[in-house]
Amino acid sequence: MNIYDTIGTSYVRTRRPDPRIAAQIHAALGDAADVVNVGAGSGSYEPPRTVLAIEPSQVMIDQRPPDAAPAVRAVAERLPLRDGAADAVMALLTVHHWTDPEAGIAELRRVARRRIVVLTWDQEVFRERFWLVRDYLPEAAAFDDDRAMKLDHLAELLGGARQEPVPIPHDCTDGFGAAYWRRPEAYLDPGVRAGISMLAQTGDAALAPGLAALEADLNTGRWHDRYADLPALDSIDVGYRLLVAEL
Ligand SMILES: C[S@@+](CC[C@H](N)C(=O)[O-])C[C@H]1O[C@@H](n2cnc3c(N)ncnc32)[C@H](O)[C@@H]1O
Repeated sequence: MNIYDTIGTSYVRTRRPDPRIAAQIHAALGDAADVVNVGAGSGSYEPPRTVLAIEPSQVMIDQRPPDAAPAVRAVAERLPLRDGAADAVMALLTVHHWTDPEAGIAELRRVARRRIVVLTWDQEVFRERFWLVRDYLPEAAAFDDDRAMKLDHLAELLGGARQEPVPIPHDCTDGFGAAYWRRPEAYLDPGVRAGISMLAQTGDAALAPGLAALEADLNTGRWHDRYADLPALDSIDVGYRLLVAEL
């Protein structure tokens, strides 16, 4: 069973596509006439020219809007598509979930005619710059150490790719890991944590001491003293990256 059949039940409640990130993804897709979305989930960030979504979790497929592109239940590692099936293939916040990322990336290259767009993150930058995992929940960062792929390796597998930083707006509507960097109370909400696989999969028992420390720091005002520079920032770069490969 796919992990998103368990943790994905409320995905569309906390993971609404963010319009600023959408604009960056759509710009990266450029003039591609048709797009296949791999690891598509509930369809976030799919432009209207999306012709097919590939997604292994039925729970996620069931959350796709009725007018979204058709979805096929399959994995990146074995795409049920012919060679060169679409101008562009995108894979957003999904590669870290794949059982065999090397095989999955080879499949993206087989199916894309012109362009591949991957949204992922640089784990070293994330650990260093994001206060939540650096100072409160190192267990969650350790969980991601095992599954986050080094970006240079990913770029190499893609046959070369440019890397664009993806700044995270302070009011990001897509509740992934760092979305609430300026809204720290959100991480105390189990509903928010359920939409962040790094936290959901690490589990509340392991997170409890760090969450208790965060709650205490918020109550005493220590959090606000410690990160006094954050309220003045509108967006932050904590390592999210768009990799764009031109084939
Ligand atoms: C964090 S969600 C991202 C969904 C969507 N791309 C988005 O940006 O909202 C990760 C998705 O990857 C899917 N996934 C997990 N393993 C996969 C695999 N081997 N191949 C393709 N997708 C996979 C999960 O089922 C889940 O829907």
